[in-house]
Amino acid sequence: MCGIVGYVGKSDATPALLTGLARLEYRGYDSAGISVLANEKISTLKRAGKLSVLVDALREHPLPQGRVGIGHTRWATHGSPVDRNAHPHMDPDDQIAIIHNGIIENYQLLKSELERAGHYFISDTDSEVVAHLLGIEYKASGDLTTSMQRVCQRLHGNFSLVAIATSSPDVLVGARRNSPLVVGLGHGENFLASDVAAFISFTKRALEIGQNQVVTLTSQSHLITDFAGVVQSAREFEVTWDAGAAEKNGFPHFMAKEIMEQPKSLADCLLGRLDEREHLMLNEIRLSDDEIRDIEKVIIIGCGSAFHAGMIAKYGIEHWSRLPVEVELASEFRYRDPIITRSTLVIAISQSGETMDTLMALRHARDQRAKVISICNTHGASIPRESDGVIYTQAGPEIAVASTKAFLTQIVAAYLVGLYIAQVRGLKFIDEVRDILDELGELPEKIERYLETSERLKELALEFKSAQSILFLGRHVGFPVALEGALKLKELAYMHAEGFAAGELKHGPIALIEEGTPVLVIMPSPNSPLHDKMVSNVQEIEARGARAIIIAAESDSSITSLRAIRIPDSSVLFQPILAVLPLQLFAYESALVRGYDVDQPRNLAKSVTVE
Ligand code: G6P
Repeated sequence: MCGIVGYVGKSDATPALLTGLARLEYRGYDSAGISVLANEKISTLKRAGKLSVLVDALREHPLPQGRVGIGHTRWATHGSPVDRNAHPHMDPDDQIAIIHNGIIENYQLLKSELERAGHYFISDTDSEVVAHLLGIEYKASGDLTTSMQRVCQRLHGNFSLVAIATSSPDVLVGARRNSPLVVGLGHGENFLASDVAAFISFTKRALEIGQNQVVTLTSQSHLITDFAGVVQSAREFEVTWDAGAAEKNGFPHFMAKEIMEQPKSLADCLLGRLDEREHLMLNEIRLSDDEIRDIEKVIIIGCGSAFHAGMIAKYGIEHWSRLPVEVELASEFRYRDPIITRSTLVIAISQSGETMDTLMALRHARDQRAKVISICNTHGASIPRESDGVIYTQAGPEIAVASTKAFLTQIVAAYLVGLYIAQVRGLKFIDEVRDILDELGELPEKIERYLETSERLKELALEFKSAQSILFLGRHVGFPVALEGALKLKELAYMHAEGFAAGELKHGPIALIEEGTPVLVIMPSPNSPLHDKMVSNVQEIEARGARAIIIAAESDSSITSLRAIRIPDSSVLFQPILAVLPLQLFAYESALVRGYDVDQPRNLAKSVTVE
């Protein structure tokens, strides 16, 4: 999964491409490159490493000014992250340059066919094959759009592609199947990109490109066809956030900014959820009351942090709706032949809306006739587009690879679904639903209060800087929080970390505890029946030498340790929303004290569009 951007317009392409790439770096950042078309010649510069390496190289070797160009930021799938594998790739005659996001599954077959015909490949990528095929078609037809349509018919797998050709000045041609591609419509200039963030500083008018479509853009026009050349219509939409929302706004890192934005994100997520009678209203899920009454089972699918949000949501949805809820990793879901019927509600959770594992699982569920709704943060992304209904989390753009504000709003949005089902099925009185919503409404202020006093985590990160391993313990809703805390630390600080259900301690994990092992404990709310059991678990680990750091409610007087981290009081089901905050900060600070790149951790990418 990579970031791609194309520009055709009235100005020099390079600055626009670099602006776009900077916004797309979250999609991959192991190499970057751009090609510009000027005087019927394509000039390319590409470098392994982050975008800054390319920017430095461009200062020394500027490309000629041209009004058409393409840019790419890569997350390696085929071929290591070295200069020659970076995009754009050219055809052998240097007539065509292409950028690609996705995987061409039949590239070996196509490559062998081309090699037999005398083609020589410079890179180890699947993408270069597309450049060669386009070169052949372009020589035959002289038309870049026709060439793209023909080549796409031969490709298996997932792709968004953008190409330029020397004899087609003022033309960008793109195509997509299962990978994202959107058009930005400016004044006298147009854009193609993986995500609207790439062109948001230039225009807010955007066009969705559908599955298996080819788009031809000039500075003044756009034409969309299918792979057979039949003209297609496209939906235009207005991007609702502005460039400032995708900038750091004075914070040292996007992650710091996004952690601090959580009170607002959560408040935004709750906005507009009541109708004039003050009943919870979730029209966006597009399920009739009868359909909701017919639901017999809920399955939540997601990956990474979204999966953990689903695990937390299970507790709320089951409690309120009395429906059984299964939570499954999207990457495992369709391979186990899950039992799905027309009465199954599948909820796909995804910040980006482009995670391929989740998209494939969603398609499988739809094939089995399940109702599918998604919880997503990105308008117009593939997952919401392919769902029966969608709840947008309204967290605003999340750029840092490690999810924070999107995670929190995913939990809340999924809770809203559970409450809504309970309301429609008559399991909760309207005033009960409102009481719960009122409590949810208090969370932004509580989050803000906690974040104001969060300096402690820096000291803790310093103290545990060189720990071999850090453990996280939780029970009930605190268990997925422990998993999320460990995931964050792995992702950002590259430390060995494990999250455990505290009840399981004595069945194995306690063997890991030795003198000085740091253990972060999510203490259940004092009003939870599990509270005292966790207190015993802490005694068990401390007796074996663990250094326990307890995350406990402010009013929890049974915890006297000075090392305790205090979070505002809340009811049991809302505690994860507060308890995860210190864990986010701990991972952030640990990455900093260990000298790592917080926003772009090694080997990861924000949006994983390959299976
Ligand atoms: C990647 C990111 C994670 C994220 C996961 C799911 O692995 O690094 O932070 O939780 O994808 O992403 P999604 O966009 O589907 O929520």
